[in-house]
Amino acid sequence: MKINLAFYIGFFLIAGSTGSFGAEVDSIQRGQYLAKVAGCVTCHTEKGGEVLSGGRAFMTPFGTFYTPNITPDNKTGIGSWSDKQFVRAVRHGRRPDGKNYFPAFPYTSFTKMTTADVLAIRAYLKSVTPIAKINLPQKVKKPFTRFAVNFWKLLYFRSGALAPIDGQSALFNRGAYLADAVMHCAECHTPRDGLGGPLVDKYLAGMKKGIVGDKAVPNITRDQTTGLGSWSRDDYLTLLKTGETPDGDNMGGEMKEVIKETSALTAEDQLALVEYLMQVKAVKNKVD
Ligand code: HEC
Ligand code: HEC
Repeated sequence: MKINLAFYIGFFLIAGSTGSFGAEVDSIQRGQYLAKVAGCVTCHTEKGGEVLSGGRAFMTPFGTFYTPNITPDNKTGIGSWSDKQFVRAVRHGRRPDGKNYFPAFPYTSFTKMTTADVLAIRAYLKSVTPIAKINLPQKVKKPFTRFAVNFWKLLYFRSGALAPIDGQSALFNRGAYLADAVMHCAECHTPRDGLGGPLVDKYLAGMKKGIVGDKAVPNITRDQTTGLGSWSRDDYLTLLKTGETPDGDNMGGEMKEVIKETSALTAEDQLALVEYLMQVKAVKNKVD
Protein backbone atom coordinates (compact mmCIF):
# COMPACT_ATOMS: atom_id res chain seq x y z
CA MET A 1 0.00 0.00 0.00
CA LYS A 2 2.80 2.39 1.00
CA ILE A 3 4.77 1.54 -2.12
CA ASN A 4 1.71 2.03 -4.28
CA LEU A 5 1.05 5.43 -2.82
CA ALA A 6 4.66 6.50 -3.36
CA PHE A 7 4.45 5.17 -6.89
CA TYR A 8 1.31 7.13 -7.65
CA ILE A 9 2.65 10.32 -6.14
CA GLY A 10 5.85 9.89 -8.12
CA PHE A 11 3.89 9.19 -11.27
CA PHE A 12 1.79 12.31 -10.90
CA LEU A 13 4.82 14.47 -10.14
CA ILE A 14 6.62 13.27 -13.26
CA ALA A 15 3.52 13.44 -15.45
CA GLY A 16 2.76 16.90 -14.07
CA SER A 17 6.22 18.25 -14.70
CA THR A 18 6.57 16.81 -18.21
CA GLY A 19 3.13 18.25 -18.92
CA SER A 20 4.19 21.78 -18.07
CA PHE A 21 7.57 21.25 -19.71
CA GLY A 22 5.74 20.27 -22.90
CA ALA A 23 3.58 23.39 -22.66
CA GLU A 24 6.71 25.52 -22.25
CA VAL A 25 8.28 24.01 -25.38
CA ASP A 26 5.02 24.60 -27.30
CA SER A 27 4.97 28.18 -26.19
CA ILE A 28 8.61 28.76 -27.23
CA GLN A 29 7.91 27.26 -30.66
CA ARG A 30 4.78 29.36 -31.15
CA GLY A 31 6.74 32.40 -29.97
CA GLN A 32 9.54 31.68 -32.42
CA TYR A 33 7.05 31.45 -35.27
CA LEU A 34 5.33 34.69 -34.25
CA ALA A 35 8.65 36.53 -33.76
CA LYS A 36 9.64 35.54 -37.28
CA VAL A 37 6.40 36.47 -39.04
CA ALA A 38 5.87 39.64 -36.95
CA GLY A 39 9.25 40.95 -38.06
CA CYS A 40 10.72 41.12 -34.54
CA VAL A 41 13.75 39.23 -35.81
CA THR A 42 14.09 41.28 -39.02
CA CYS A 43 13.80 44.68 -37.36
CA HIS A 44 15.90 43.81 -34.33
CA THR A 45 18.82 42.32 -36.28
CA GLU A 46 21.41 44.49 -37.98
CA LYS A 47 22.85 43.37 -41.31
CA GLY A 48 25.60 40.92 -40.42
CA GLY A 49 24.82 41.36 -36.72
CA GLU A 50 23.90 38.81 -34.08
CA VAL A 51 20.25 37.75 -34.15
CA LEU A 52 17.96 40.04 -32.10
CA SER A 53 20.84 42.14 -30.76
CA GLY A 54 19.47 45.30 -32.43
CA GLY A 55 21.30 48.18 -34.10
CA ARG A 56 19.33 48.24 -37.34
CA ALA A 57 18.66 51.83 -38.43
CA PHE A 58 15.37 53.17 -39.78
CA MET A 59 15.41 56.52 -41.54
CA THR A 60 12.00 58.20 -41.33
CA PRO A 61 10.74 61.79 -41.74
CA PHE A 62 10.74 61.97 -37.92
CA GLY A 63 14.35 61.00 -37.42
CA THR A 64 16.58 57.94 -37.42
CA PHE A 65 15.58 55.12 -35.12
CA TYR A 66 17.83 52.29 -34.03
CA THR A 67 16.34 49.04 -32.81
CA PRO A 68 17.43 47.96 -29.33
CA ASN A 69 18.97 44.68 -28.22
CA ILE A 70 16.14 42.32 -27.21
CA THR A 71 18.27 39.27 -26.40
CA PRO A 72 18.15 38.10 -22.75
CA ASP A 73 21.44 39.81 -21.82
CA ASN A 74 20.91 41.25 -18.33
CA LYS A 75 22.81 44.51 -18.81
CA THR A 76 22.38 45.50 -22.46
CA GLY A 77 19.34 43.42 -23.45
CA ILE A 78 16.01 42.71 -21.76
CA GLY A 79 17.11 39.74 -19.63
CA SER A 80 16.24 41.50 -16.37
CA TRP A 81 12.73 42.52 -17.47
CA SER A 82 9.60 41.01 -15.95
CA ASP A 83 6.97 39.54 -18.27
CA LYS A 84 4.71 42.40 -17.25
CA GLN A 85 7.26 44.99 -18.40
CA PHE A 86 7.60 43.12 -21.68
CA VAL A 87 3.84 43.09 -22.31
CA ARG A 88 3.65 46.79 -21.41
CA ALA A 89 6.37 47.57 -23.97
CA VAL A 90 4.94 45.51 -26.83
CA ARG A 91 1.22 46.14 -26.30
CA HIS A 92 1.28 49.64 -24.78
CA GLY A 93 4.48 51.25 -26.06
CA ARG A 94 5.77 52.02 -22.58
CA ARG A 95 9.29 51.57 -21.26
CA PRO A 96 9.96 50.07 -17.83
CA ASP A 97 10.70 53.64 -16.57
CA GLY A 98 7.24 54.76 -17.75
CA LYS A 99 8.42 56.81 -20.76
CA ASN A 100 6.97 56.21 -24.22
CA TYR A 101 8.45 54.35 -27.11
CA PHE A 102 8.37 56.02 -30.50
CA PRO A 103 5.80 54.47 -32.79
CA ALA A 104 8.61 53.39 -35.17
CA PHE A 105 8.24 50.34 -32.91
CA PRO A 106 4.87 49.21 -34.33
CA TYR A 107 3.09 48.77 -31.01
CA THR A 108 0.01 50.45 -32.48
CA SER A 109 -0.41 47.14 -34.31
CA PHE A 110 1.08 44.82 -31.68
CA THR A 111 -1.44 46.05 -29.09
CA LYS A 112 -3.95 44.03 -31.12
CA MET A 113 -2.11 40.79 -30.31
CA THR A 114 -3.35 38.66 -27.43
CA THR A 115 -1.32 38.75 -24.22
CA ALA A 116 -0.88 34.97 -24.58
CA ASP A 117 0.82 35.43 -27.96
CA VAL A 118 3.03 38.22 -26.63
CA LEU A 119 4.06 36.00 -23.72
CA ALA A 120 4.86 33.18 -26.17
CA ILE A 121 7.20 35.59 -27.98
CA ARG A 122 8.69 36.48 -24.62
CA ALA A 123 9.28 32.77 -23.86
CA TYR A 124 11.10 32.43 -27.17
CA LEU A 125 13.18 35.58 -26.62
CA LYS A 126 14.27 34.23 -23.22
CA SER A 127 15.54 31.09 -24.96
CA VAL A 128 17.93 32.78 -27.42
CA THR A 129 21.64 33.39 -26.77
CA PRO A 130 22.21 36.57 -24.75
CA ILE A 131 24.38 39.07 -26.63
CA ALA A 132 26.13 41.96 -24.89
CA LYS A 133 25.64 44.95 -27.18
CA ILE A 134 24.86 48.48 -26.04
CA ASN A 135 21.86 50.25 -27.62
CA LEU A 136 22.37 53.28 -29.84
CA PRO A 137 20.54 56.51 -28.89
CA GLN A 138 17.59 57.54 -31.08
CA LYS A 139 18.13 60.60 -33.30
CA VAL A 140 14.72 62.19 -33.33
CA LYS A 141 13.85 65.53 -34.92
CA LYS A 142 12.14 68.20 -32.89
CA PRO A 143 9.37 68.29 -31.69
CA PHE A 144 9.13 64.50 -31.56
CA THR A 145 10.27 63.73 -28.02
CA ARG A 146 9.23 60.74 -25.91
CA PHE A 147 7.09 63.16 -23.96
CA ALA A 148 5.37 64.42 -27.14
CA VAL A 149 4.44 60.82 -27.91
CA ASN A 150 1.85 61.18 -25.11
CA PHE A 151 -0.11 63.56 -27.36
CA TRP A 152 0.47 61.38 -30.38
CA LYS A 153 -0.93 58.42 -28.44
CA LEU A 154 -4.00 60.43 -27.42
CA LEU A 155 -4.69 61.12 -31.08
CA TYR A 156 -3.81 57.83 -32.69
CA PHE A 157 -3.23 55.00 -30.25
CA ARG A 158 -6.03 52.71 -29.07
CA SER A 159 -4.86 49.78 -26.98
CA GLY A 160 -6.60 46.42 -26.92
CA ALA A 161 -6.54 43.02 -28.60
CA LEU A 162 -8.32 42.69 -31.94
CA ALA A 163 -11.83 41.33 -31.47
CA PRO A 164 -12.97 38.69 -33.97
CA ILE A 165 -15.83 39.92 -36.18
CA ASP A 166 -19.11 38.11 -35.55
CA GLY A 167 -20.50 36.40 -38.60
CA GLN A 168 -17.08 36.12 -40.25
CA SER A 169 -15.35 32.74 -40.62
CA ALA A 170 -12.54 31.61 -38.33
CA LEU A 171 -10.27 31.74 -41.39
CA PHE A 172 -11.13 35.40 -42.08
CA ASN A 173 -10.63 36.35 -38.43
CA ARG A 174 -7.27 34.59 -38.31
CA GLY A 175 -6.31 36.49 -41.49
CA ALA A 176 -7.39 39.80 -39.95
CA TYR A 177 -5.34 39.02 -36.85
CA LEU A 178 -2.27 38.21 -38.94
CA ALA A 179 -2.62 41.31 -41.15
CA ASP A 180 -3.48 43.87 -38.48
CA ALA A 181 -2.01 42.62 -35.20
CA VAL A 182 0.99 40.46 -36.05
CA MET A 183 2.29 41.37 -39.51
CA HIS A 184 1.22 45.03 -39.37
CA CYS A 185 0.62 45.45 -43.13
CA ALA A 186 -1.11 48.79 -42.45
CA GLU A 187 2.03 50.31 -40.89
CA CYS A 188 3.36 50.67 -44.44
CA HIS A 189 0.30 50.40 -46.70
CA THR A 190 -2.00 52.90 -44.95
CA PRO A 191 -1.13 56.55 -45.76
CA ARG A 192 -0.39 58.89 -42.85
CA ASP A 193 -1.01 62.51 -42.02
CA GLY A 194 1.73 65.06 -41.24
CA LEU A 195 2.11 63.79 -37.68
CA GLY A 196 2.52 60.21 -38.79
CA GLY A 197 -0.98 59.16 -37.77
CA PRO A 198 -2.74 56.64 -40.04
CA LEU A 199 -5.58 57.91 -42.26
CA VAL A 200 -8.08 55.24 -41.29
CA ASP A 201 -10.50 55.92 -44.14
CA LYS A 202 -7.63 55.09 -46.52
CA TYR A 203 -6.86 51.77 -44.85
CA LEU A 204 -4.27 49.90 -47.00
CA ALA A 205 -4.74 52.35 -49.90
CA GLY A 206 -1.00 53.06 -50.33
CA MET A 207 0.95 56.26 -50.96
CA LYS A 208 3.43 57.79 -53.40
CA LYS A 209 6.27 57.89 -50.92
CA GLY A 210 6.41 55.44 -48.06
CA ILE A 211 7.39 56.30 -44.50
CA VAL A 212 10.47 54.10 -44.82
CA GLY A 213 12.39 53.70 -48.06
CA ASP A 214 11.57 55.82 -51.11
CA LYS A 215 9.45 53.42 -53.14
CA ALA A 216 5.77 54.00 -53.71
CA VAL A 217 3.71 51.74 -51.49
CA PRO A 218 0.95 50.15 -53.60
CA ASN A 219 -2.76 50.33 -52.94
CA ILE A 220 -3.65 46.80 -51.78
CA THR A 221 -7.39 47.37 -51.33
CA ARG A 222 -9.84 45.65 -53.68
CA ASP A 223 -10.27 48.74 -55.91
CA GLN A 224 -10.47 47.56 -59.54
CA THR A 225 -8.35 50.26 -61.16
CA THR A 226 -5.95 51.60 -58.53
CA GLY A 227 -5.80 48.55 -56.23
CA LEU A 228 -5.83 44.75 -56.44
CA GLY A 229 -9.52 44.31 -57.26
CA SER A 230 -8.66 42.05 -60.19
CA TRP A 231 -6.35 39.71 -58.22
CA SER A 232 -7.51 36.13 -57.67
CA ARG A 233 -6.93 34.01 -54.59
CA ASP A 234 -4.03 32.32 -56.40
CA ASP A 235 -2.48 35.68 -57.30
CA TYR A 236 -2.33 36.61 -53.61
CA LEU A 237 -1.08 33.20 -52.62
CA THR A 238 1.76 33.30 -55.17
CA LEU A 239 2.76 36.77 -53.97
CA LEU A 240 2.84 35.71 -50.31
CA LYS A 241 4.83 32.57 -51.12
CA THR A 242 7.29 33.87 -53.72
CA GLY A 243 7.02 37.66 -53.95
CA GLU A 244 5.92 37.46 -57.59
CA THR A 245 2.98 39.53 -58.89
CA PRO A 246 0.58 38.42 -61.67
CA ASP A 247 2.58 40.66 -64.09
CA GLY A 248 5.75 38.73 -63.27
CA ASP A 249 7.30 41.55 -61.21
CA ASN A 250 9.26 40.65 -58.12
CA MET A 251 8.93 42.52 -54.87
CA GLY A 252 11.71 44.95 -54.04
CA GLY A 253 12.27 47.51 -51.31
CA GLU A 254 10.72 46.96 -47.93
CA MET A 255 8.32 44.36 -49.25
CA LYS A 256 11.19 41.99 -50.03
CA GLU A 257 11.75 41.54 -46.28
CA VAL A 258 8.02 41.10 -45.70
CA ILE A 259 7.92 38.25 -48.26
CA LYS A 260 10.50 36.39 -46.14
CA GLU A 261 7.88 36.54 -43.41
CA THR A 262 4.79 35.72 -45.49
CA SER A 263 6.62 32.79 -47.09
CA ALA A 264 7.40 31.47 -43.59
CA LEU A 265 3.70 31.36 -42.70
CA THR A 266 2.08 27.92 -42.44
CA ALA A 267 -0.08 26.99 -45.46
CA GLU A 268 -3.18 27.51 -43.34
CA ASP A 269 -2.06 30.98 -42.21
CA GLN A 270 -1.32 31.93 -45.82
CA LEU A 271 -4.87 30.93 -46.78
CA ALA A 272 -6.21 32.93 -43.85
CA LEU A 273 -4.30 36.05 -44.89
CA VAL A 274 -5.57 35.68 -48.47
CA GLU A 275 -9.14 35.22 -47.25
CA TYR A 276 -8.82 38.52 -45.41
CA LEU A 277 -7.07 40.43 -48.22
CA MET A 278 -9.78 39.34 -50.71
CA GLN A 279 -12.29 41.27 -48.59
CA VAL A 280 -10.43 44.53 -47.90
CA LYS A 281 -12.79 47.42 -48.69
CA ALA A 282 -12.01 49.03 -52.06
CA VAL A 283 -10.55 52.56 -51.79
CA LYS A 284 -9.72 54.51 -54.94
CA ASN A 285 -6.21 55.96 -54.55
CA LYS A 286 -3.71 56.20 -57.37
CA VAL A 287 -0.13 55.98 -56.13
CA ASP A 288 1.97 55.51 -59.27
C1 HEC B 1 9.50 48.03 -37.91
C2 HEC B 1 10.56 47.61 -37.03
C3 HEC B 1 10.21 46.89 -35.74
C4 HEC B 1 9.49 45.72 -35.60
C5 HEC B 1 8.78 44.91 -36.68
C6 HEC B 1 9.58 45.38 -34.20
N1 HEC B 1 10.27 46.32 -33.51
FE1 HEC B 1 10.71 46.27 -31.52
N2 HEC B 1 11.41 48.18 -31.66
C7 HEC B 1 11.62 48.89 -32.82
C8 HEC B 1 12.20 50.19 -32.52
C9 HEC B 1 12.58 51.26 -33.53
C10 HEC B 1 12.31 50.25 -31.10
C11 HEC B 1 12.85 51.42 -30.27
C12 HEC B 1 11.74 52.41 -29.99
C13 HEC B 1 12.17 53.54 -29.09
O1 HEC B 1 13.35 53.61 -28.70
O2 HEC B 1 11.33 54.36 -28.75
C14 HEC B 1 11.83 48.95 -30.61
C15 HEC B 1 11.80 48.60 -29.26
C16 HEC B 1 11.44 47.35 -28.77
C17 HEC B 1 11.52 46.96 -27.38
C18 HEC B 1 12.03 47.79 -26.24
C19 HEC B 1 13.43 47.38 -25.86
C20 HEC B 1 14.13 48.26 -24.86
O3 HEC B 1 15.31 48.00 -24.56
O4 HEC B 1 13.56 49.23 -24.36
C21 HEC B 1 11.06 45.66 -27.31
C22 HEC B 1 10.93 44.80 -26.07
C23 HEC B 1 10.71 45.27 -28.65
N3 HEC B 1 10.97 46.31 -29.52
C24 HEC B 1 10.20 44.03 -28.98
C25 HEC B 1 9.71 43.72 -30.24
C26 HEC B 1 8.96 42.52 -30.53
C27 HEC B 1 8.64 41.43 -29.53
C28 HEC B 1 8.62 42.56 -31.84
C29 HEC B 1 7.79 41.59 -32.65
C30 HEC B 1 6.48 41.30 -32.12
C31 HEC B 1 9.17 43.81 -32.37
N4 HEC B 1 9.83 44.47 -31.37
C32 HEC B 1 9.04 44.22 -33.68
C33 HEC B 1 11.33 48.44 -34.10
C34 HEC B 1 10.65 47.28 -34.41
C1 HEC C 1 7.81 47.70 -44.31
C2 HEC C 1 6.76 48.16 -45.18
C3 HEC C 1 5.74 47.15 -45.67
C4 HEC C 1 5.03 46.24 -44.94
C5 HEC C 1 5.06 46.00 -43.43
C6 HEC C 1 4.17 45.55 -45.87
N1 HEC C 1 4.36 46.01 -47.14
FE1 HEC C 1 3.49 45.27 -48.84
N2 HEC C 1 4.64 46.52 -49.97
C7 HEC C 1 5.53 47.47 -49.49
C8 HEC C 1 6.21 48.10 -50.61
C9 HEC C 1 7.26 49.22 -50.53
C10 HEC C 1 5.71 47.48 -51.78
C11 HEC C 1 6.13 47.76 -53.22
C12 HEC C 1 7.27 46.85 -53.57
C13 HEC C 1 7.80 47.07 -54.96
O1 HEC C 1 7.37 48.00 -55.64
O2 HEC C 1 8.68 46.29 -55.36
C14 HEC C 1 4.71 46.49 -51.34
C15 HEC C 1 3.98 45.67 -52.19
C16 HEC C 1 2.95 44.83 -51.80
C17 HEC C 1 2.08 44.10 -52.71
C18 HEC C 1 2.12 44.11 -54.24
C19 HEC C 1 1.06 45.03 -54.79
C20 HEC C 1 1.18 45.29 -56.26
O3 HEC C 1 0.39 46.13 -56.74
O4 HEC C 1 2.01 44.72 -56.94
C21 HEC C 1 1.18 43.40 -51.92
C22 HEC C 1 0.06 42.50 -52.38
C23 HEC C 1 1.52 43.68 -50.56
N3 HEC C 1 2.60 44.55 -50.51
C24 HEC C 1 0.86 43.15 -49.47
C25 HEC C 1 1.30 43.28 -48.16
C26 HEC C 1 0.74 42.54 -47.04
C27 HEC C 1 -0.39 41.53 -47.13
C28 HEC C 1 1.43 42.92 -45.93
C29 HEC C 1 1.30 42.38 -44.52
C30 HEC C 1 1.48 40.94 -44.41
C31 HEC C 1 2.42 43.91 -46.36
N4 HEC C 1 2.31 44.10 -47.71
C32 HEC C 1 3.30 44.54 -45.49
C33 HEC C 1 5.77 47.75 -48.16
C34 HEC C 1 5.31 47.00 -47.07
